[in-house]
Amino acid sequence: MPILKGKDILHGNQFTRKDVEAILKTASEFEKELKKKDALPLLKGKILATLFYEPSTRTRLSFEAAIQRLGGGVIGMGSVESSSVAKGETLVDTIRTVSQYADVIVLRHPRTGSAREAADSTPIPVINAGDGAGQHPTQALLDVYTIHKEIGSLKNLTISLVGDLKYGRTVHALVELLSLFKAKIYLVSPGLLRMPGEIVFGLKGKGIEVVETEDMVKAANASQILYMTRIQKERFADLSEYERLKGSFILNGAFLNNLKKKITILHPLPRVDEIHPEVDAYPGAAYFRQMRNGVFVRMALLAMIFGKR
Ligand code: NCD
Repeated sequence: MPILKGKDILHGNQFTRKDVEAILKTASEFEKELKKKDALPLLKGKILATLFYEPSTRTRLSFEAAIQRLGGGVIGMGSVESSSVAKGETLVDTIRTVSQYADVIVLRHPRTGSAREAADSTPIPVINAGDGAGQHPTQALLDVYTIHKEIGSLKNLTISLVGDLKYGRTVHALVELLSLFKAKIYLVSPGLLRMPGEIVFGLKGKGIEVVETEDMVKAANASQILYMTRIQKERFADLSEYERLKGSFILNGAFLNNLKKKITILHPLPRVDEIHPEVDAYPGAAYFRQMRNGVFVRMALLAMIFGKR
């Protein structure tokens, strides 16, 4: 039964544990195949449109790489300034337009809920590549794919999510997936950037053990994985607040030396100063492997949306 055929990808909470396992299995098959050949032309003739109303490097380019590795093509709006958005066109009208030219839309937009609004205004699948401080489900899928590869299992994980848990859409989506596997979750943030209460409430309601703390050392020592995030400067109404909070949690060589055991370090990237470059050589630093995994996971999602897996 093709579980994602024709579906939108909007929110981390839309997946069952079985869905996630099927996506990871397909991604892993594609990763193996791509060691032998450059392309798997399952989606010949299909066109993916990228609509990015916010900056992106990895998400956009890995989606573009993914559709092309699958034999499909890609069209993109370029920057918002160079499209009719600059003339005041609404998101819904832009989505209607792009639906005439493409078979699937990947959307990144600053407004929470925009991906659902887009999905409701077109018959073609919409993939949420980040809606404001809302969700970023494809990142969460590549994060769990990476965790599975690095740790060997998704069972009985203990993970610390560190940084901007209020505005960080990657962690909002990731906790939904982690909750399917009953992880123990440490939420490490400054008081002003705590995980939204309704998300914490939802996790606890599912029986997930959640610890909110500002003690990164204690959380890291109890965890197998340290998931660092960037303080989301662009979401602050008051930039002086950002200035006060930036640099709250920094991972460097000295911090790692003081840990009791080796830890796996993830970050959705881009980083600003929350991971010192000296950490890059640490064996558990998995964030560059993590971004590569984005291609395999996005290939899996696209193949499944078109019913080819
Ligand atoms: C993240 C995002 O855009 O939410 N980046 C990404 O997609 N890899 C994280 C961030 O910008 O901090």
